[in-house]
Amino acid sequence: MKILFLGDLVGKPGFTAAVKKVPALRKELSLDAVVVNAENAADGSGLTPRQFQRLTDAGVDAITMGDHIYKNKDIIEVLAKSSRIVKPANYPLDSPGRCWTIVDTEAGPLVVISIMGRVFMRPVDCPFDALDRVLAEVSADDRFQGTATGGPPPILVDVHAEATSDKQVLGRYLDGKVTAVLGTHTHVPTADATVLPGGTAFQCDVGMCGPYESIIGRDISRVMSTSRTFEPTHFYVATQDVRLCGAIVESNPQGLATSIVRFEQKIK
Ligand SMILES: [Fe+2]
Ligand SMILES: [Fe+2]
Repeated sequence: MKILFLGDLVGKPGFTAAVKKVPALRKELSLDAVVVNAENAADGSGLTPRQFQRLTDAGVDAITMGDHIYKNKDIIEVLAKSSRIVKPANYPLDSPGRCWTIVDTEAGPLVVISIMGRVFMRPVDCPFDALDRVLAEVSADDRFQGTATGGPPPILVDVHAEATSDKQVLGRYLDGKVTAVLGTHTHVPTADATVLPGGTAFQCDVGMCGPYESIIGRDISRVMSTSRTFEPTHFYVATQDVRLCGAIVESNPQGLATSIVRFEQKIK
């Protein structure tokens, strides 16, 4: 299976670029599946139900989120109903949303999981315990047993964390257990895309989809001013140098990665 994962869609520039480009990218790159992190789609924070609909209509198979998941409260109903969006698996069990999902693609089922790191983040449950629990649930599921290829379906894990060390330790923990561990949240692509020894594709951060003439997607002067004066101000989403960033992972019938390449496309 050939999967494109796009990092945090930031505001209108990132969201619009993804909606416009995904249908063409599916064809041009012969993609079997597209997964996006959309935690910053709604003006930089959260995701609206209408945006969710437009992304899935554009050919996005599944959506991951992060610490901004509930910023737009209307998404809670979508989280409760749809199998195309997941919450971080180590959020409280009672929080809205599902901890993992299986989506059907033309190349068979794909499992999608989101997990949050614990360094410089809001306190969440242990990611290792949550992943153990979720992977046990996944492997016990009928849809996981009976795929057309006879092997397990690919499993994509979005690791939403601040620290590279936090992401690396989760990557190593999952090596050989899942197809890909791909980082989001810091919005800056890292140059470490690799297939780990056990066969899991890994990248600390795939980079945001949004305006790169910015401070992680926001207007530079606003962030600069608040950084210097501590005076709170609204951080507008920036507008210039819009790029889609992500990673393309290919998996084998054993559900492990054969390759990972960084994806970056400048939007004119
Ligand atoms: Fe983000
Ligand atoms: Fe985040």
